[in-house]
Amino acid sequence: MTTSAFNEHYWESRYLDNNIPWDMGGPSPALTEYLKSISPKTKILIPGAGPAWEAQWLEENGFENIHVIDISEKAVSDAKERIGPNSSINWWHGNFFEHAESYDLVVEQTFFCALDPEMRNAYAEHMHKILKPGGRLMGLLFNFPLSADGPPFGGSIPEYQALFEKHFEIKHLEECYNSIKPRAGREIFIELIA
Ligand SMILES: C[S@@+](CC[C@H](N)C(=O)[O-])C[C@H]1O[C@@H](n2cnc3c(N)ncnc32)[C@H](O)[C@@H]1O
Repeated sequence: MTTSAFNEHYWESRYLDNNIPWDMGGPSPALTEYLKSISPKTKILIPGAGPAWEAQWLEENGFENIHVIDISEKAVSDAKERIGPNSSINWWHGNFFEHAESYDLVVEQTFFCALDPEMRNAYAEHMHKILKPGGRLMGLLFNFPLSADGPPFGGSIPEYQALFEKHFEIKHLEECYNSIKPRAGREIFIELIA
């Protein structure tokens, strides 16, 4: 379930109004550096993928089992159209919290920060549920104080530690050293094991 404020209608309107300042026009180097080190057979989900630059990068780099989910139909159709008809990416239009596949890896990129902070426990629980035992949640979280002013909603290492340690073994939860320039010093790299 999503809260009423940041529901399907909210996100669809953002795409219809082209009010999508999060679109980086390419994948984050912090993510691709990690992804270069894993098997192309890994079954991967990118939730709240929006323009899905990471999914495109994965496909261009030989990954074979890529899944993308977004609650905005327009986000999914725009990304699908840009990537083209010959893609093998599995596209899901729907709510992450109702998604019931199982994965080796989930890639987090400005999805967590887009959710109402009240959803954070549900996020951690559902992530754990859709990961196979030993599967990983890898990606980036924002590193600025949580306030009512969002999305994006921020947080800190101690807050994320307390949230995720209930469900995951924490392998990495630290300041990101290779963020894109506009986000330098404002991102935390995570790798959590289910
Ligand atoms: C801030 S945007 C980030 C998009 C993309 N990850 C990026 O970095 O460009 C958040 C995305 O999450 C999607 N979203 C929000 N709530 C969702 C939910 N419950 N299930 C699936 N997608 C959701 C929105 O439609 C939007 O595309």
